[in-house]
Amino acid sequence: MIAFSAMTSTGFSQPHTGLECDGVAVAEIAEAVGTPLYINSAALLRSRFLALEQAFGDYPHALHYAMKANSMLAIVGLIQQLGGAADANSIWEIDVARRAGFLPKDIVFTGVGKSGDELAQAVPLGLKAINVESAGELDRIEAIAKRLGQVARVAVRVNPDIDAKSHPHISTGLKINKFGVPVDAARELIATLRERPSLTLVAIHVHIGSQITSLDPLRGAAAFIAGMAMELRHGGVPLEYVDIGGGLGISYDGTPVVEPAAYVGALLDAVRPTGLPIVIEPGRSIVGPAAILVARVIDIKPRNAVSDFVVIDAGMTELMRPALYGAFHRIEVVRPRAGAERHYEFVGPVCESSDVVGRDRVTAPLEVGDLVAIRDAGAYGSAMASNYNRRPLPPEVMVSAGTWRLTRRRQTVDDMVALEG
Ligand code: LLP
Repeated sequence: MIAFSAMTSTGFSQPHTGLECDGVAVAEIAEAVGTPLYINSAALLRSRFLALEQAFGDYPHALHYAMKANSMLAIVGLIQQLGGAADANSIWEIDVARRAGFLPKDIVFTGVGKSGDELAQAVPLGLKAINVESAGELDRIEAIAKRLGQVARVAVRVNPDIDAKSHPHISTGLKINKFGVPVDAARELIATLRERPSLTLVAIHVHIGSQITSLDPLRGAAAFIAGMAMELRHGGVPLEYVDIGGGLGISYDGTPVVEPAAYVGALLDAVRPTGLPIVIEPGRSIVGPAAILVARVIDIKPRNAVSDFVVIDAGMTELMRPALYGAFHRIEVVRPRAGAERHYEFVGPVCESSDVVGRDRVTAPLEVGDLVAIRDAGAYGSAMASNYNRRPLPPEVMVSAGTWRLTRRRQTVDDMVALEG
């Protein structure tokens, strides 16, 4: 399914009579594909990726896109074409990364709970690194490598006990969190590697959290890893690179956040003295702003004296972030009607009171059948969608150079029950 229209602007904007994505009318795509649906802007994704990439200048680095943010083949494939690399959080993400064109040497394998089966499949691939989360996991990797007569490349994920000052559900760098190995234990673990010929330590890794909007925690994590890399070098343990994880936040509500250039500048300031290449694992900062979730108004009913409930055909099944983290996403009317703005509570169709997509919003007046766009839905949106209430996974569209194409069709009930006996 392909449609053409003149390319007038990049990203999502309302230059004419309604919301457009890279110059293509969102309403036109929604009419053709139906709602709810995700619309991705290739141009925005590309520019977000390049902003990070170019900020490194000629300093050696690799951007390992955190596939968990959105692992659609079309998106992972685009990152691959742009010269990125991959951060996979499961053996299944590794499989998708390879289908999208990545070689094992372009993939780091992260994740707090890699099963024995996943490790048994991952070790023989010869990945760039397996980011190890515990002494036990290191033992299990060693046993597999030994059995295969291979040397496994590992990075130790260190928990630096740094507060990311993000939502508690997505802060990972404090010692109360389940992630990584505490600093002293990491030193001891790394010391054991001298006598373990089936393992080679290529890096140390930190990831302190996600949606980090101030520079201090990110700077702190970079300083920490640079300091530890120097300490290891002085102790006779050289590294190939340092992996500083992901975490750079985006502005969901328009308030300024750390820009990619400032973020990378802080990383470079901290790590340059080590001379080591920098690996980062950005997810949200690349894909977050690059997609919208389009929904149709299916009902409007009175809420209180000043506002109405607007029931839309997308909810926590398509975008779980508001229900799970109380996350804020802007909601825009695709073709605003004339008339006084009104107060609305945007709710989804799912049988849960937490299924509220936007609280206390003020928009142009709405009628049943109107389209709305939920902004900045590209990261942890479709990736976290579910079939609750037997709702099908929504379709995805990629807009590129004034053309759009369906990159995932809508799931059907046949697709769902095909797995059942
Ligand atoms: N590396 C590791 C080891 C991670 O655990 C994560 C995210 C990333 C990189 C990418 O972080 P980013 O650059 O996207 O912040 N579902 C939540 C976010 C969970 C993040 C999990 N880990 C949300 O919707 O906000």
